[in-house]
Amino acid sequence: MVLLADVRAHNATLKSLPSGLVAVFVGATSGIGFFTAREFVRNTTSPHVYLIGRNATEAGKIIEELRSINSSSQLTFLQKDVSLLKNVDEACNEIKSREKQINVLFITCGYLTMKGRDETTEGLDRKLAVQYYARMRFIQQLTPLLNAASQANRISRVVAVLDPQAGLRLGGLNYADLDLKHNFSLKNVMLHASAMTSLSIAHLAKTNPKTSYIHAYPSGVETGVTRELFGRFNGVVKTVLGGLAGRWLYVPQEESGERHLFAATAPRYAPKADGETTEVVGSDGIKGSGSYLLNWNGDILTDTKNAQKLREEGGEERVWEHTEEVLRKTSEGGMY
Ligand SMILES: NC(=O)c1ccc[n+]([C@@H]2O[C@H](COP(=O)([O-])OP(=O)(O)OC[C@H]3O[C@@H](n4cnc5c(N)ncnc54)[C@H](OP(=O)(O)O)[C@@H]3O)[C@@H](O)[C@H]2O)c1
Repeated sequence: MVLLADVRAHNATLKSLPSGLVAVFVGATSGIGFFTAREFVRNTTSPHVYLIGRNATEAGKIIEELRSINSSSQLTFLQKDVSLLKNVDEACNEIKSREKQINVLFITCGYLTMKGRDETTEGLDRKLAVQYYARMRFIQQLTPLLNAASQANRISRVVAVLDPQAGLRLGGLNYADLDLKHNFSLKNVMLHASAMTSLSIAHLAKTNPKTSYIHAYPSGVETGVTRELFGRFNGVVKTVLGGLAGRWLYVPQEESGERHLFAATAPRYAPKADGETTEVVGSDGIKGSGSYLLNWNGDILTDTKNAQKLREEGGEERVWEHTEEVLRKTSEGGMY
């Protein structure tokens, strides 16, 4: 476990980096994205921060709070529903028109639901789109800016917060139906989103060896993630759960933000090109390989037979090939 004192000591060093670090938070109007953006703003000098989500009211309040924490920060809200990849492209085009480099791409968009397959106009299931395809579209679109940051020897990192455990344990992928058009179930969505994220970041770490990639498990954090699940009863459920379990089960919100900022910036999660500088084992079982599966406390999640099998059957390449095909077809204005 990385001690919270060590997390805080590292985060405090970010102020000594050159000013103007750029971070993009996809899913910043609530929860872990917001908590992490708040720590980023607190610990950096003149940062440029992009906050992406749908809820403009919440974004307004968050921007006000962030500005009060650090008046030197440049804060931009981009109101986008990222379940449509064309909206992801609009957000990325806006960012690309303003920035030359990105240091941190921090992605948390997601939600809990009991709904069945809910197809978007682009032919993807909405939940899988938000929790996997949109995230990969952000990474693909913003890779040139992440690479520009790494070429300038500055932080270049992608953090996807979801849950690597499902891909490590829950079984195999259905390669003939990776987007689950024909084999939809909530369990399959969890497994595919998780395993495909882990396999894709392993692939990306090899092709972009100066950027590091993290798939992080946040543990329980009191956020808005149950909003869609419980609808108008969400407030009551949150109060009951918070009261009953909060002390024992939840990572405090501020600590979650601090730990995720550490994940997004600490040298211990080195890119492949600097792999010899770290003792930390990557998601492919190789030390310093540039893609890491993190537990909530900064530890690496142990490799499993399930994950090894996915790699041995060529999962990294097969999943990325499929992902590129989906991204290409939808970016041409078509349906997948
Ligand atoms: N909290 C936990 O205990 C926990 C545990 C394990 C895993 N996770 C995972 O961690 C991730 C972050 O969750 P959280 O707890 O921070 O949840 P949260 O408080 O609900 O935050 C989710 C964020 O995603 C955004 N979002 C959702 N759908 C979107 C869409 N279609 N377009 C644009 N933005 C969208 C939301 O913004 P808008 O509503 O403004 O669009 C919100 O800012 C999720 O993937 C969740 O499954 C959370």
